[in-house]
Amino acid sequence: MKTKALLLTLALTAAAPAWAGNVALGKTKSEQLACASCHGADGVQTTAPNFPRLAGQYEDYLVRALSDYKRGARKNAIMGGIASGLSKDDIENLAAYYASLSGPLAVKR
Ligand code: HEC
Repeated sequence: MKTKALLLTLALTAAAPAWAGNVALGKTKSEQLACASCHGADGVQTTAPNFPRLAGQYEDYLVRALSDYKRGARKNAIMGGIASGLSKDDIENLAAYYASLSGPLAVKR
């Protein structure tokens, strides 16, 4: 039994992605930076049609998008400005938070 638990722990640890962020810290950061003012309180009901939905998006996709804005590989005046102030940890936490929310297909409008 003990061996089984140990093996399970090892398997889960090994499977944890390198970018694993903290959902609670990401939520706090998103509130501090008012991401919801554009991307919606639930990450789905955005405040303009050209503001993308973030809820339920793949975590690695969100990490990539924010990192690309930060280093200028993806250019957008709004997001470039916001991402330039984010640390690697901020990006990982924000990505974990938005990935943890129910995506558009799960939200009743
Ligand atoms: C003033 C409005 C505004 C605010 C505030 C804002 N965003 Fe955005 N965000 C946008 C727009 C507009 C885009 C689309 C930009 C583009 O075309 O690349 C975008 C794109 C993104 C994307 C890429 C989505 C995709 O599908 O590729 C991510 C991730 C993102 N924002 C995260 C955040 C986070 C996290 C915050 C808070 C730290 C935030 N945004 C705050 C307007 C905003």
